[in-house]
Amino acid sequence: MAAASVRIEVVSLFPEMIREALRHGIVGRALQRGLLTVGTEDPRAHTSDVHRTVDDRPYGGGPGMVMKPEPLCAAIRAARGRLPEGARTVALSAQGVVLTQQRVRELGAATGLVLVAGRYEGIDERVLESEVDLELSIGDYVLSGGELPALVLIDALARLLPGALGDERSAQQESFSAGLLDWPHYTRPEDYAGRRVPAVLLGGDHAAIDRWRLKQALGRTWQRRPELLQRLELDAQRAALLQEFMKEAGTDS
Ligand SMILES: C[S@@+](CC[C@H](N)C(=O)[O-])C[C@H]1O[C@@H](n2cnc3c(N)ncnc32)[C@H](O)[C@@H]1O
Repeated sequence: MAAASVRIEVVSLFPEMIREALRHGIVGRALQRGLLTVGTEDPRAHTSDVHRTVDDRPYGGGPGMVMKPEPLCAAIRAARGRLPEGARTVALSAQGVVLTQQRVRELGAATGLVLVAGRYEGIDERVLESEVDLELSIGDYVLSGGELPALVLIDALARLLPGALGDERSAQQESFSAGLLDWPHYTRPEDYAGRRVPAVLLGGDHAAIDRWRLKQALGRTWQRRPELLQRLELDAQRAALLQEFMKEAGTDS
């Protein structure tokens, strides 16, 4: 279950990137209301040389630079020192476990999170061994830094905080919350360029609307992400609705 509030510290060479991005929309409001606190810690503040060096060449040769252990570890410890006991330290990494809604929920239950954003070719392995509890990827592609992945996680966490969304039901109903993709949404006008809103949504029969939405969610998940469906045990009602959807899709195509 999501905690009532989440305390996060981001260790980053570009702290302004984090602060800027968090000012908007639902996350900005959650920050203003104190549901979420996000601090930043710059490893450069933990250097002692005149150039404020945070990177160095890789042992063994090869392209690119590696984030040095001393300033990064000092920054992580400073950030962790501002959080309650038991806070978890997560490094954003293309080599980590892939972020899912389930993992967002698990991380949201932590007393606090230190998010470590890498840059260059990555982080000296000994930092990961000594300071980091979890390496987390946002998908199988490589970005130039961990700031955007950290922001992705913060955004997903904020949505789960009680009071963050205008209507609490949004977080319960959206994609992945019940292991399914979301159903299609429509707003006015009823007829847009000859495309009509499904009649059931206009009729005010809430049981029929709920049934239609569940059927669409099941059908979409079957069509677009069948592997998600395989992980679920459908009860009799859901199995019947999916059968109905499949039959209609087969007849239509
Ligand atoms: C250029 S990347 C380093 C890539 C690394 N050499 C590799 O091949 O795995 C620099 C930083 O971006 C972040 N990053 C890149 N892709 C990511 C992803 N898919 N998920 C999370 N973080 C990522 C990590 O913090 C990483 O240390």
